[in-house]
Amino acid sequence: MEAQELRDAYINFFKARGHVQIRSASLIPENDPTVLFTTAGMHPLVPYLLGEKHPAGTRLCDYQKCVRTGDIDEVGDASHLTFFEMLGNWSLGDYFKKESISYSFDLLQTVLHIDKEHLAVTAFAGDENAPRDTETAELWKSHGLRDDQIFFYGKKDNWWGPAGQTGPCGPDTEIFYDDGRPKCSPDCGPSCHCGKYTEIWNNVFMQYFKDKDGKFSPLKQKNVDTGMGLERALRIVNKAETVYETPLFAGIIGKLEELSGKKYADDKKSFRIISDHLRAATFLLADGVVPARMGGGYILRRLIRRASRYMSRLGIEGVHMQEIAEVVVHEYSQAYPELEEHKDTIYQQITAEEEKFHSTLNKGLRRFSEMVAQQGDRKNLDGEAVFHLYDTFGFPIELTKELAEEKGYEVDVDDFNDRFKKHQDESRMDTNQTFKGGLVDHSEETTKLHTATHLLDAALRAIVDPNIFQKGSNITAERLRFDFNLDRKVTPEEIKKIEKWINDAIKADLPVVCEEMSYEDAKKKGAIGVFSNKYGERVKVYSIGNISCEICGGPHVTHTGELQGFKILKEQSAAAGIRRIKAVVGNFD
Ligand code: SER
Repeated sequence: MEAQELRDAYINFFKARGHVQIRSASLIPENDPTVLFTTAGMHPLVPYLLGEKHPAGTRLCDYQKCVRTGDIDEVGDASHLTFFEMLGNWSLGDYFKKESISYSFDLLQTVLHIDKEHLAVTAFAGDENAPRDTETAELWKSHGLRDDQIFFYGKKDNWWGPAGQTGPCGPDTEIFYDDGRPKCSPDCGPSCHCGKYTEIWNNVFMQYFKDKDGKFSPLKQKNVDTGMGLERALRIVNKAETVYETPLFAGIIGKLEELSGKKYADDKKSFRIISDHLRAATFLLADGVVPARMGGGYILRRLIRRASRYMSRLGIEGVHMQEIAEVVVHEYSQAYPELEEHKDTIYQQITAEEEKFHSTLNKGLRRFSEMVAQQGDRKNLDGEAVFHLYDTFGFPIELTKELAEEKGYEVDVDDFNDRFKKHQDESRMDTNQTFKGGLVDHSEETTKLHTATHLLDAALRAIVDPNIFQKGSNITAERLRFDFNLDRKVTPEEIKKIEKWINDAIKADLPVVCEEMSYEDAKKKGAIGVFSNKYGERVKVYSIGNISCEICGGPHVTHTGELQGFKILKEQSAAAGIRRIKAVVGNFD
């Protein structure tokens, strides 16, 4: 089965059951300072899971591009991916467990054609916060699953969310494909990693709210949030050995075989790393991420650099990443038209970064020669120097080891691994910290800053350049941060003018009006935002007087006067061609 066939079949299945297809949101979460990238289909839906009304109704479905980067260095094995697609369906206070399980069961049978015998499912075992989910088990049995296909687990395995410290959460039922081999031990089950069980789908029954004191209370709106990994599902349907042997990667791997003159089977690890990383990089570039020293831009840089190293390992000389990106754009644009739309930027940025890394690599090689020259008679390169090559020049340990061995030196791999592990733990802690920050905050303060962001966006176009567009936005309770395209500094005079323009709009106490309409109508109205009229989807459009009109999920204040005043704290560079403004609202008189 081709990927597009599965996307279409999934969407059509749920459309036939009253769901409305929504488009995949950007990989850069809108107004969510707690994560770098969109990590699940539910992510863009958090406000609606918390009770805000979704313009498309109470039954939704989509395929959502996601990036998870906790384990970049594990990519290359059979299962880890940084970029993946999640097929999802949602009930926002509509149906609950019975229909959800019934829909899933039917889709597994009629679309994925998985024999009932090959299914294994899990349910929540119960604890002090919520009872044992026997209802879920009974529902699975009503579809003919036996007791020995149903496994009960605790919070660690069978509870999803909240995404941050507080928010909606609940027990889930996970659906696994059992490949039929004997159990590896008497305890073997879906939570075992022996390979017998592959998770395909996760249905979360969001019926609780966890507050900041850790207390769980029943939600008034009971939601269903499901997520199916497209790559894994495709692997199972196609009986492929790993996700890399599915049609999703055939074109990319074929191109790499052509460029390298090698076969995938000769060096699967290198082929997989390059394919995964450049697929992710292409999608990130399309969504406006630019290689940088920090944050999401740093992840993108790491992906490109690691791919570059493995391209040399395959013997690919020169600058060729654009050719891989071209395959991704060609093969994925039907599902994600933004790739085709931004292909010039993608090609220009990926080539620039590849060239930049080649020159860094040369500097790293010089540093390596100096290190070796300072070694004297010592034949063991210490871990600190080797780690420096990794950290500063992006040299993977395999490369340093190879270079060292050529010159008759050994590398203290254990010492390197200790340092590497410490570094990884620290960056994981950072990632978790970001995630633990909490769900999108809808306090009064962030609502004001959200409206201020629309005013700033409009002011920049009115005063500085009509071609300015939002490249990123991040709001905390304290300030807004807004990134936009401009290849020069905003002058101090312009800053003053922007502040005055916005403060005048605040003094005028303009109404902020929200209307629901189709994409077509939003476009006709001149609203800015991400357009895709493919699904005839309904959107919310927020207008501020007649000075701003944007497609946006909200929430916003009702009148600009509520902001009291606006002040820019800082204007700086965020990346090549991207400027960043940090600003606050309040009474500054
Ligand atoms: N949010 C759940 C997950 O990420 C289901 O989509 O697994």
